Parts: sequence; structure tokens; C-alpha cells
Amino acid sequence: MFLPKVDAPVNIPSRSTVKQLEYLGETRVNLMEYNSIDELLRNNQAWVAEKLALDPTYFEKLSSGQSPPFLYIGCSDSRLPLTNFTRTEPGELFVHRNIANQISLTDINFLAVLEYAILHLQVQHIIVCGHYDCGGIKAALEGRTIGIIDNWVNPIRELYLQKRDEIDALPTRQERLDRLAEINVVAQVKNLYQTSIMRQVLSQQKAPMVHGWLLDIRTGLIKDLNISTLQWQLYPCPLLLEFRLYTILNDEH
Ligand code: CO
Repeated sequence: MFLPKVDAPVNIPSRSTVKQLEYLGETRVNLMEYNSIDELLRNNQAWVAEKLALDPTYFEKLSSGQSPPFLYIGCSDSRLPLTNFTRTEPGELFVHRNIANQISLTDINFLAVLEYAILHLQVQHIIVCGHYDCGGIKAALEGRTIGIIDNWVNPIRELYLQKRDEIDALPTRQERLDRLAEINVVAQVKNLYQTSIMRQVLSQQKAPMVHGWLLDIRTGLIKDLNISTLQWQLYPCPLLLEFRLYTILNDEH
């Protein structure tokens, strides 16, 4: 049965949302205007009409399959849809997002995305994109207890503890958070090179190019960290090394 929708007040976070924002160190002042849920559906219809006006076959082409050149690994933060920041269209970015754009070698969700992107879609570039003003980075640096997010950002806290002297020496909180966000992107790019999938395509010389970026939410601009990945490409993987040794030893007999 269809029930008419009653317009609920929007822009008023629930008490629990307010609490969580405080924990993440986010501002509680809401400067943005949000669409209502009904507006989302109306916007969708308007967008479809605009697309069809420009190209009547747009959705026909879109539904014929995907062959995106880019895999984007980013933070879940609502302010960073990379499609808007890069003027990319549906079909251009294959996407994996989680809090603080982490690459975990035990995250089956991420590994499935990575394998599909590399082996089946054959993306040409992988973009690991962090951002300044990241709530996950704040949680890692400041060690506040808010629940499961602490478990998730613990590897970033470990990074902070490793680089504590360098980070703590920075004069302002913002600089310390910014630096940890940058260190995190470098660490995640390194992690990417530790995955068996990347190892496999590197050995076949079919690996996509990897880019470490930071989106500066304060200016809207993307900063390319120009991370040299050669060091991790050449670092021998113990498993591959063992396999080669096994092959060599067997060939001798
Ligand atoms: Co974030």
C-alpha cells in the first residue's frame, strides 16, 4: 500500500549524530543546505532528462557495460565524491571507499574490488586519495574512544606513533593532522604493493600506475603527492621468492 510521505524536518541531526560529530572533532555548525529525500528523486528525474536531451542514447551506452580506466580508493567522507571534483562521468571511476582510505591486506571487500578492477576491468590507474580534515585521521591522532572506528583507524594510530617526533614537532593541530593524512596516503600506497594481486600483475608487467593524492577540502584542489612507487615494486615478495627458489631447485634435478 502506498503511504503518502510526511515531510520530516531535515538538517537536524539526531542526538547520536551530534555526539558522533563531536567525537570526530567535526564542526557542529551546519553551513550547508541539504536536499530533502523527495528532492533526490525529483533531481534524478531532471538529471535523466538533461542527459537524454544531450544524448538520447546515453543510458543505452551506459548499460552496455563498464570499462573504467581508474580505480579510486578514497575516504567515505560525504564531502569527497571524486566524480564532482574531477568532472568525471558515470563509468569512469571504479570505486572503493572506507574511513580514512585504508588498504588492508585482510579486507576481503577491498581485495575483491582490487582483483576485479585489475584482472577483469584492467584499470590503467589506481588513485589512492586521502583528504585533509579527515575525521578518521583525527580519531587516529587524538586517540579518542568512539567505538569500532578506533579499531579501524588503529593502523593509522600506529603510523602516528612511528612518526610521533616528526608530527608532534609541527606547531599547529592542523599541520599535525595534515601531515598524518599525507603519511597515511604513502602508507596505503605501500600496502597496495603488498597485495598478492598487485604482486601478480607486477611480475607480468601488467600493473596499473598508482597515484597518491590528497584532496584539500579547504580549497577543493587535488594535490598529487608524486609518490615514487619503484621502491615497493622492486621489493621482493617472500612468497614469490620462495616460489622462484622452488622452481630453480626443481630445475636442477
Ligand atoms: Co576522511
